[in-house]
Amino acid sequence: MSLADRVSAAYRQRFGGAPALLARAPGRVNLIGEHTDYSDGFVLPMAIDRALWIALAPRSDRRVLVYSLDFATEASIDLDQLEKVDDGWPEYLRGVAWALQQADLRLSGWQGVMAGDVPIGSGLSSSAALELAVARAFQAVSEFAWEPTVIARLAQRAENDWVGMNCGIMDQMIAAAGVSGSALLIDCRSLATRLVPIPAESVVVVMDSMTRRGLVDSAYNQRRAQCEAAAQHFGVSVLRDVSEANYAGQAAQLDGLVYRRARHVIRENVRTLAAAVAMQQGDARQLGILMNASHDSLRDDFEVSTDALNALVDSARRQPGCFGARLTGAGFGGCAVALVQSAARENFVASVAREYEEATGLAATLYVCQPAAGASVTSLS
Ligand code: GLA
Repeated sequence: MSLADRVSAAYRQRFGGAPALLARAPGRVNLIGEHTDYSDGFVLPMAIDRALWIALAPRSDRRVLVYSLDFATEASIDLDQLEKVDDGWPEYLRGVAWALQQADLRLSGWQGVMAGDVPIGSGLSSSAALELAVARAFQAVSEFAWEPTVIARLAQRAENDWVGMNCGIMDQMIAAAGVSGSALLIDCRSLATRLVPIPAESVVVVMDSMTRRGLVDSAYNQRRAQCEAAAQHFGVSVLRDVSEANYAGQAAQLDGLVYRRARHVIRENVRTLAAAVAMQQGDARQLGILMNASHDSLRDDFEVSTDALNALVDSARRQPGCFGARLTGAGFGGCAVALVQSAARENFVASVAREYEEATGLAATLYVCQPAAGASVTSLS
């Protein structure tokens, strides 16, 4: 049974009667442009064909009642009395309601059942999928305009100021604005987006290391602080405004660690723009080279990789038909991504799974992902 059918059937069972709407928002994989979003840089993610689904119907009061099939728990919130409880997924629901109301949107209540197939905590942005699906549900019952960039900013605000995770804008933007069949080059300063095609005869393979590390986590915030310190050294507020030439000229006076952090961000922005050009030209080989360079920089300069992620990436790169591979998302565990020749995909998946298990004793999960659309809502009547 599809997830859409599962949440609809569960809605009928729980609330009696049919749901009126189906909201969904996807997870994402980032092809290149890592740890650049909070420096106003460039990212190149695609929304994936794994998503969070909600079957719902409006309520006449100002309550929101949601049952999660994945967690087997219900959240009940009062839109006039939002309080932090720190109880896991319902906090995202409250956070989104809070951020939308902070933007003076008048919200109506609703009830729903949700379920998803974005693996939680794996670096594929299950939390942004939840935020955007909830925002879509609110938008459909409250009938305010859906402007992807505005809603993405509000969802980011929910995560930053309510949940307490100081993330950038990438995950919310791609979950809001993804386009079926394309990756998206996003300028994280202007939020302008450009569609970029996946090179023909190649596929995107997500490789889950099955190692996890929470994101509300000092290491991520520490990297942000180091990027801010580096920007300050160059007399700008974000590293987006430091060119490679400018950086090379002043590098000698930088502290070694800050120097390497800045080098990653500045070069990653250059690589990301080059990757968009390569994709536009259908050049899988060049894109792969840039992905490899991105991983090496994340491993050596930005230091967010792990032995497990390196083992996965090394194994991927050894396989015939692999153009390139890198960790994806924040790092410290979670997933890597590879660009692979379509014809080689089956051997690739089997060989990487075997080699990774030999090297680490862990069973990786690998799946080929198609670029999917951003958050959507459909009326069931
Ligand atoms: C997480 C954050 C994003 C981004 C990536 C690293 O996914 O939520 O904003 O910073 O890490 O590129």
